[in-house]
Amino acid sequence: MQQKRLTAALVAALAAVVSAESDVKSLTKDTFNDFINSNDLVLAEFFAPWCGHCKALAPEYEEAATTLKDKSIKLAKVDCVEEADLCKEHGVEGYPTLKVFRGLDKVAPYTGPRKADGITSYMVKQSLPAVSALTKDTLEDFKTADKVVLVAYIAADDKASNETFTALANELRDTYLFGGVNDAAVAEAEGVKFPSIVLYKSFDEGKNVFSEKFDAEAIRNFAQVAATPLVGEVGPETYAGYMSAGIPLAYIFAETAEERENLAKTLKPVAEKYKGKINFATIDAKNFGSHAGNINLKTDKFPAFAIHDIEKNLKFPFDQSKEITEKDIAAFVDGFSSGKIEASIKSEPIPETQEGPVTVVVAHSYKDIVLDDKKDVLIEFYAPWCGHCKALAPKYDELASLYAKSDFKDKVVIAKVDATANDVPDEIQGFPTIKLYPAGDKKNPVTYSGARTVEDFIEFIKENGKYKAGVEIPAEPTEEAEASESKASEEAKASEETHDEL
Ligand SMILES: *[C@@H]1O[C@H](CO)[C@@H](O)[C@H](O)[C@H]1NC(C)=O
Repeated sequence: MQQKRLTAALVAALAAVVSAESDVKSLTKDTFNDFINSNDLVLAEFFAPWCGHCKALAPEYEEAATTLKDKSIKLAKVDCVEEADLCKEHGVEGYPTLKVFRGLDKVAPYTGPRKADGITSYMVKQSLPAVSALTKDTLEDFKTADKVVLVAYIAADDKASNETFTALANELRDTYLFGGVNDAAVAEAEGVKFPSIVLYKSFDEGKNVFSEKFDAEAIRNFAQVAATPLVGEVGPETYAGYMSAGIPLAYIFAETAEERENLAKTLKPVAEKYKGKINFATIDAKNFGSHAGNINLKTDKFPAFAIHDIEKNLKFPFDQSKEITEKDIAAFVDGFSSGKIEASIKSEPIPETQEGPVTVVVAHSYKDIVLDDKKDVLIEFYAPWCGHCKALAPKYDELASLYAKSDFKDKVVIAKVDATANDVPDEIQGFPTIKLYPAGDKKNPVTYSGARTVEDFIEFIKENGKYKAGVEIPAEPTEEAEASESKASEEAKASEETHDEL
């Protein structure tokens, strides 16, 4: 009986799958623009058939499309293998890329979740007006409708303030909820005058008031500072925000929620003193303990404290053998703030001898080798786990040998550095990253973006180095370059992604 019922259910389910018409619209270069222009709100996915994240997203995306079709919110997809030009035109660099279109010239990255209900609620929010008109009756509920909401109190005829606020709401609608009140009595009851903005939040002091003249930049800064908890939490959802905040981040690593809460309380006065200058946040050391290594902390001793100066990419770990107390951390942060504490530099030891044709650079020898003003230095930033770096290695060795045997052996250096074990001043977006630091012009390194072949490297050094140093490749036929460099770099990005825990 039971089995029979199951079978019937299975058959029905299969039939549904087979007959289901997709509610996701497939677009091509011929249909894309028309479709975007004739729908007010479209979420478009740019995907590649071989991409695993795209496959995982597909059923969720289908389900969301079906839920949203009655709300005239359209979900579309573009196959970037078939439609390479279209994807390039839209600046697609990795898969899947999701973008929200309100016509062709109003495009925003999709920053929501990748589950069906998450996609649905994100897009419904997108379809609502950026600013909700509020009354005395609707205000109270609105204040707590999200973790952070911004309400503008402005006169109905104050066009300038209205425009500034509305434009900002459109820009930041994914981040905060926005409302507007035109009733002077309601403003008075809230203790503010026209025009003002009150930011209501579910943490810390509960609300903050902006009462200066409405100016987009000033409001943006006000919201950024006010919406950041005094001691927040670093996690997958907040990490990007902290990284782009433009101020240093002080990490409090602890393994249990209770420890994190206690340390947050302990360090609150320090956080208060540096509010708007240094962000303070706890981080779960059980799940993200390996991240401690990125800030030059040991990854096996918690709780721990460290400051990351994000702009300069400098790391200031607090001595892990010491206890974390308010007094000691306050002194440490004061020292950091006044420039009295030196940044820690992670470095492998300087090799006593160079074994291979490629010169091995470490953080402590970076200046002496890479910034040697008399030499053209080609340097590869690699990671030990990076497959494309391994594939490059024999060619890179060959390149180094050719220069070592040439007349340029004292003028051109082919070097590499393990960028996961050494702090380098360069911002590394993916592995491998290869740059030429020309002699006499060390402030202007040139990033290599060509094919990873010996010929092309030589051309690059010839073209961009001070010594225009070209070398001959011996006559015997060398292997041809890989077929698809662009696909290779996409995979490199994808494999890098899986190593980025936050
Ligand atoms: C801004 O102006 C629009 C159009 O006049 C109006 O509908 C809206 O309620 C105003 N918003 C606020 C917050 O006053």
